[in-house]
Amino acid sequence: MEKKLRVMSEKPLNAETPNPYLRSWITANKVFFARNQGGIPEKPIALSDWSLTIEGEVDTPLVLRYDQICRMPKAIVCNTLECSGNSRSLLEKKASGNPWTIGGVGNAVWGGVWLKELLDSAGLKAGARHVAFEGLDKPLGSAQIKFVRSVPMEKAQSSMLLAYEMNGEPLPLDHGYPLRALALGWTGANSVKWLHKITVLDRPFEGYFMDKVYRKFQKGQDPASGEVVTGINLKSIITQPEQSEMLPSGKITILGAAYAGTAEVERVDISTDDGKTWNAATFIGPNEPYAWRQWQFLWTIEEKGDYTLLSRATDTAGNQQPMKADWNVLGYGNNGVREHAVRVQINP
Ligand code: MTE
Repeated sequence: MEKKLRVMSEKPLNAETPNPYLRSWITANKVFFARNQGGIPEKPIALSDWSLTIEGEVDTPLVLRYDQICRMPKAIVCNTLECSGNSRSLLEKKASGNPWTIGGVGNAVWGGVWLKELLDSAGLKAGARHVAFEGLDKPLGSAQIKFVRSVPMEKAQSSMLLAYEMNGEPLPLDHGYPLRALALGWTGANSVKWLHKITVLDRPFEGYFMDKVYRKFQKGQDPASGEVVTGINLKSIITQPEQSEMLPSGKITILGAAYAGTAEVERVDISTDDGKTWNAATFIGPNEPYAWRQWQFLWTIEEKGDYTLLSRATDTAGNQQPMKADWNVLGYGNNGVREHAVRVQINP
């Protein structure tokens, strides 16, 4: 299928969803952003060669075939997935990593089974505190480090799906076929693709993708002492008009999305005068847990000139999206309000 993503690196494939595709509530599979540390498997694994192992601090280790998983009670959930490094390139001070703008995010309807059901079948031992997920992707680089991430047991039991379907289609190869973990409302790094092994542990998994990256740390600080990236931050984005667009005067529809991870977005305010005045946007479409909300704002402008548009989200607990996010070495979690410059011309 033709790819329309903005590719930042080919190997590993890191590519973001262009603005126009962020305007619908569902992000189509073919334009859903891709973030990889290793090589995407060259072809889909034969299901006869694939199984999911659950081992570690469990009473009965399990090895499950794909058809066994598909016969279990199916859960269908919406989830907006955002890369921890999304909007990194918009930070005032440069941070290391792929230069994501706003398109390292997408929303899909996922089908699969709750991880809790599998953990219940395996039976947890007294020391079971964390759950680690291992992907089948081919590690790049001489160290050949596998992509393994773990989450605390509370997350594993409350809101983790093992997904085999994305927007009604079998999970696409790029997004983890045949099965991926989905930590609902948490950043993408916690949602391991091409999943084949789950290990229940008495402590967090120790390894490169747990301790050296996906942590917020400052220059000179040991990455392993930084905070692990978990929940997606409260954020809103403007998806129309485009940055620097020339607009005719009159009525202009401003479009955008807002999301809050495990929390809930309550309102989005828009400023068309660089923050001097603010007015509420109107939500459009579905309002589902863990999923973004699309919004619109009708702007009537008769005077030509340069304008700075801003959008700012508030959640149901009253938290506001920050005007500026705190900086960290790898630029994770940038949810600062973005300045959106446009030029209005008078209609002839
Ligand atoms: N799983 C594996 N096995 N390997 C990876 O490199 N990248 C993670 C996560 N799961 C990754 C992975 C990161 S950092 C993100 S943001 C999401 O996958 C991206 O998911 P997507 O490519 O389906 O959008």
